Amino acid sequence: MDRRELKRSAAVLVLAAIAWCLPAAPADAQERLTRQALAGADYVRGRLAFQQRCSACHTLAEDALHLAGPNLWEVIGRTAGSREEFSYSETLREAGFAWTPDRVDDWLANPDSYLPGNTMLIPEPVPDRDRLPMISFMMMETGGADWPRPEIDIAALETPRGASPAERFPSFWNHLMHNTTHYRWVDDEQEFEFDAYYNKDGSVSSSMEGVDGFWHIDDRDFFCYALQGLPIRPNYFVQCFPVAAMAIPRFSEQLWQSPMYGGAVLYGGILPGRPTDDVETAAPE
Ligand code: HEC
Repeated sequence: MDRRELKRSAAVLVLAAIAWCLPAAPADAQERLTRQALAGADYVRGRLAFQQRCSACHTLAEDALHLAGPNLWEVIGRTAGSREEFSYSETLREAGFAWTPDRVDDWLANPDSYLPGNTMLIPEPVPDRDRLPMISFMMMETGGADWPRPEIDIAALETPRGASPAERFPSFWNHLMHNTTHYRWVDDEQEFEFDAYYNKDGSVSSSMEGVDGFWHIDDRDFFCYALQGLPIRPNYFVQCFPVAAMAIPRFSEQLWQSPMYGGAVLYGGILPGRPTDDVETAAPE
């Protein structure tokens, strides 16, 4: 090797060392959740994790309704907070980035610190082992994956239709029919709290005078209910969420938050048990 060659290879080495030390520019930052990792993730695990932790508030299919959270069709690649018909927090509307798998991953790992002021209240960060399969599943179901869905019999994962809700969704059923659902309504003018009791005959009773309602499970397996007689205008509200969202029973005064029209927010939670004088608390037959 002559001197010139030596100099040149030293220069190459120095350049390589600099490149190695420099932090990658944000635009081409190395992805953590690579396409390969996402395509190879465990679909069933991801599906279950999404159903248990996300589906209370999010639908995935194209044209499906917004629930408490926005519909997620084609969310990967879309600017955060940009579905026009959904009322996002200012934080999300002004986040100014497009969702990538890594960004969703960071958010679900640290919901509060990643986007301070966002209004997505999840009971706990999504554990490490569930995030990759969950994001992979979400991409497959929202038109965001360029790899095929694994060939598994999805129907085999479901409990047969036709059985009663108590048989099909035992943990959901026992949770809702034997405990107290606590609501807190907040709007510009007032704030009030009350308890509701979902009864096996399809009715809803409550701790607030004049407030009652009804519920049913529809053919998409959404639990829908209406409460009426409330001191709001109009004096009722109606909500639906997928039954699967409550597959893991949790107790907390505040488990979910629903932005309602006109700036009102409804907080909901589940408290253990019911008042003993409530005739509806009789044991299941
Ligand atoms: C209690 C209801 C609730 C649950 C549970 C929930 N979300 Fe959300 N999600 C929201 C709300 C509300 C927003 C909008 C937040 C805002 O505007 O600050 C949102 C926003 C999002 C967005 C951004 C959408 C957009 O258009 O920018 C993604 C992605 C998302 N959620 C994914 C998830 C995943 C994955 C899970 C499961 C771990 C989950 N969410 C669980 C309520 C929920």
